[in-house]
Amino acid sequence: MSTGWLDDDTALFVRYGDAFVPRRTEQFDIVCDLLGELPRPSIVELGCGDGRLTERLLGRLHHTRVAAVDASAGMLALARTRLAGFTGRVTLRRAAMEEDTALADGPHGAVVTSLAVHHLDDRAKQALYRRVRGVLAPGGVFVMADLVAPVGPAPLALAAARWDAEVHAADPAAAVPFESARWNTFRYPDPVDRPSPVGAHLNRLARAGFRDVDVCWLYAGHAVFHARRPERLEETT
Ligand SMILES: C[S@@+](CC[C@H](N)C(=O)[O-])C[C@H]1O[C@@H](n2cnc3c(N)ncnc32)[C@H](O)[C@@H]1O
Repeated sequence: MSTGWLDDDTALFVRYGDAFVPRRTEQFDIVCDLLGELPRPSIVELGCGDGRLTERLLGRLHHTRVAAVDASAGMLALARTRLAGFTGRVTLRRAAMEEDTALADGPHGAVVTSLAVHHLDDRAKQALYRRVRGVLAPGGVFVMADLVAPVGPAPLALAAARWDAEVHAADPAAAVPFESARWNTFRYPDPVDRPSPVGAHLNRLARAGFRDVDVCWLYAGHAVFHARRPERLEETT
């Protein structure tokens, strides 16, 4: 299963993720805040990595089960260790998010994801949003934290500069590998990163049949989106 995400990326991200991701804890808290009252106590997390967000979800939503999905065996091994204390409430599954098994065992109360969808191309993003809507229970929500593409030179320069500054402020030692790995994709475009503009995400989510589609947080080219599967009654009105 090849996604373009490499073991070297895992090593760097696991070590420095808290600094590489702008305001990471705040982003995770916003993802949890946006889940609200779920119609079912079941969440799928796509691209869970080493399970940082999963841990937050399980810690905050005490009666909820999480299926944590990732394509990387290395990441899932780290997640297994991190989440050992939540046995019975978490399932780890190796799958690419493009595969149907990633979203199995629905309907779910929520699907969440952080920093994974920008690895998909435009078609795959649209297809994913339709599939996510299809596996959510009525009233269920999709919450996505991800890189977004700034539109135009000034927004691009701002996002690049603010991202660098955030990494420096979080951990000056992390700024060295951040620069040498050319991690700031707004400064060093990488074909593995395919962030879409905010407007494109909003349009695609609406086209996939979601309601209450919004961007709820945005900083340094990182954003958190919310979208809700309508209740059956709303669909007919
Ligand atoms: C930057 S890490 C983010 C990890 C975690 N969500 C976080 O926020 O800490 C990206 C993760 O997405 C996973 N990934 C990338 N493409 C994927 C795909 N097509 N399907 C499933 N996982 C994918 C990688 O294996 C990696 O664990």
